[in-house]
Amino acid sequence: MESQNLSQRGTWGSKAAFIFAATGSAIGLGNIWRFPMVVGENGGAVFVFVYILAVALIGFSVMLAELVIGRHAQKNPVGAIDSIKPRSPWKSIGYLGMITGIAILSYYAVLAGMLAGYFVKMISGAFRGNVTSQMTEQTFTDFSSNPFLVLFFFAVVLFITAYIISKGVKGGIERYTKVLMPILFVLIIFLAIRALTLPGAGEGIKFYLSPDFSKLNFKIVFFALGQAFFSLSLGMGTMITYGSYINKKDNLVSSAGWVSFSDTLIALLAGLIIFPTLFAIPGISPDSGPSLVFKVFPLIFSKLPGGQIFGMLFFLLLLVAAITSTISLLEVPVAYFVDERKWSRTKAAVLMGLCAALLGIPSALSWGGVKFLTKFEFWAKIDLIFGNIALAFGALLICLFVGWVWGVKKAIAEIKSGGKKFTIRHIWIFSIKYLSPIAILFILIKIIIG
Ligand code: PHE
Repeated sequence: MESQNLSQRGTWGSKAAFIFAATGSAIGLGNIWRFPMVVGENGGAVFVFVYILAVALIGFSVMLAELVIGRHAQKNPVGAIDSIKPRSPWKSIGYLGMITGIAILSYYAVLAGMLAGYFVKMISGAFRGNVTSQMTEQTFTDFSSNPFLVLFFFAVVLFITAYIISKGVKGGIERYTKVLMPILFVLIIFLAIRALTLPGAGEGIKFYLSPDFSKLNFKIVFFALGQAFFSLSLGMGTMITYGSYINKKDNLVSSAGWVSFSDTLIALLAGLIIFPTLFAIPGISPDSGPSLVFKVFPLIFSKLPGGQIFGMLFFLLLLVAAITSTISLLEVPVAYFVDERKWSRTKAAVLMGLCAALLGIPSALSWGGVKFLTKFEFWAKIDLIFGNIALAFGALLICLFVGWVWGVKKAIAEIKSGGKKFTIRHIWIFSIKYLSPIAILFILIKIIIG
């Protein structure tokens, strides 16, 4: 029965294929757009410090928990939890994840669309000559408040996402992420070196890496934890879904470790580009929020020989990184409708894509296109509710489910299947049963009651 189920759903071609798909999901706008934004808004280095702790102590454990559920059950999140604990309310974790996925996709694709717009801008030479911070601010405002352009690029991104999903995630992603992600990585290192050697970069490095612990507060911990879940694609079943395609022979612990490590590395490097540049070229404040990277990246390209080419390449690769994440957001609800409701992939991809499109319209228009939506910061509300709170809540439920309902014993048996070692199991058990759920619950309560 199990092998029949396996052969129908398919598995990743190799462990490497899974690693590429999962890192593709994790690495995206969360690292390069959202991470610098929340660092800048939350006091710089203290935030970075708490973030690294959150990834190491909580994020990694939750990732392993999601992968274990997925691989054990070989199903979408709803079906997986239902097969482990039949007819229990725990499967709501899966439903919540589907809704969260569509909601995050709705504003994420708007942003990815804006990157596509910036790619086109780079080709057309919009940032040639002496680029100043006023100029990059103006360019961003003009672009983001043009409803037709923003909606057009948003639609393009959603279309590409739904198209790739309808073909099946397992076939295609590996082929191009294998080549493109390493190029993005090299380019990021190169840009970081340039930023760090700008005259006046020192202040930025200090802001980013020298923590002032007197600034530490609950808001910082809340956003650091939310950012860890967002960036690692946790709390909504993405890693349950991707884990469900992992081969029984593969090592889940090293997979979770690798994905967490590379995702964190890219985010930290993105900060090493943004903050030194920001302080070296005055005019943009670190807490300028969501527009930060759109204003800062063109500045650093203008400080490089051949900057236009680098700029084009960068926005293109970032767009690819964003699309490997939008795919993983849409895959969660699609896997449910394909597995449980027997829909075709195409039907599920089109209908779920349309839901994201409808919800995304007000987000797209809240960047300056429509006044009251902009004032209300529609997209930012969705980001707060789904990108922070719902992911943290989902992660809490996953810890409780694995730690207390299914039980760590069975989870560990799955992790060890095929004779794998699990040397850090005591730390993981402590994290999944006590540390992570208590920390998440405490922070959520504190934030909600204020
Ligand atoms: N982790 C992705 C990023 O950093 C976003 C994402 C969140 C994808 C949740 C899937 C699930 O860009």
